[in-house]
Amino acid sequence: MKYNHETILKCASMVKEAESIAVLSGAGVSTSSGIPDFRGPNGIYRRKYDIEPERIFDIDFFSRDPAFFFKFHREFLKALKEVSPSYTHRFLTALEREGSLKGIVTQNIDALHHKAGSKNVLEIHGGVWKSTCLSCGKSYDYETSWKKTMEEEIPHCEKCGGVIKPDIVFFGEDVKHLEESRSIISQADLLLVLGSSLTVVPAALLPSCCNGKIVVVNKGDVSGAYLSPNRIDLRIDGDLDEFFGDLNEELNLTIQ
Ligand code: OAD
Ligand code: ZN
Repeated sequence: MKYNHETILKCASMVKEAESIAVLSGAGVSTSSGIPDFRGPNGIYRRKYDIEPERIFDIDFFSRDPAFFFKFHREFLKALKEVSPSYTHRFLTALEREGSLKGIVTQNIDALHHKAGSKNVLEIHGGVWKSTCLSCGKSYDYETSWKKTMEEEIPHCEKCGGVIKPDIVFFGEDVKHLEESRSIISQADLLLVLGSSLTVVPAALLPSCCNGKIVVVNKGDVSGAYLSPNRIDLRIDGDLDEFFGDLNEELNLTIQ
């Protein structure tokens, strides 16, 4: 469904009026960069694997069979080297530079908000920056984790031989920066929820701590289970890059 010009103008005035904007982003902000989402038409969870794809990020399954995850992760790390931030990532960086965007809470582990130059990014599902030995807790930096993941079927700790797991939050593990995320979102007078189906908690519950206006930009359905449609002030069902391109015709931010 294509949004109309009136919607663009409405969103532009909400952004201009807001003194404090927060963003909750999901996998949809990175699809145009070439990283697949999970539940979209071509999402990872729609694909055929030897196991149910949801189990790729399941901590119990990982403990039993880490090799399966690393086969998947190896390809993901290689793909990450090739990708560039989308227009949406870069638009958000410009909005932060302009001053009103106070923080991005992201469910993504692809580091593309950082790569675009955004400063205040809370990766609640972790990231690929570091890995940790599950037995002794030794921490490995990005370069070493990358090398080990490429060279070993299952990367093992140099100190104790334990399995090294990237600091990505799996199902069954606690999300990170939850209090800080709630704080940024509750203080915002405008929350932009971008490219997320809002199906995974606690991330999907975060918009409910917003005391300001909520704009949701997502192509396709967004679950109403955790964020009631009545609570959404503006819903754009369309492509993110296209929408922010049109929005920026009104805002004139310098996108780098
Ligand atoms: P989903 O894949 O559930 O939702 C992404 C949404 O973005 C879908 O509704 C897509 O239709 C939409 N979308 C894709 N490309 C778009 C585009 N160019 N413009 C607009 N919308 C677009 O991803 P998340 O909600 O981020 O967690 O998933 C949440 C969590 O589920 C992930 O962080 C991951 C996963 O399991 C863990 O692995 C812990
Ligand atoms: Zn160890």
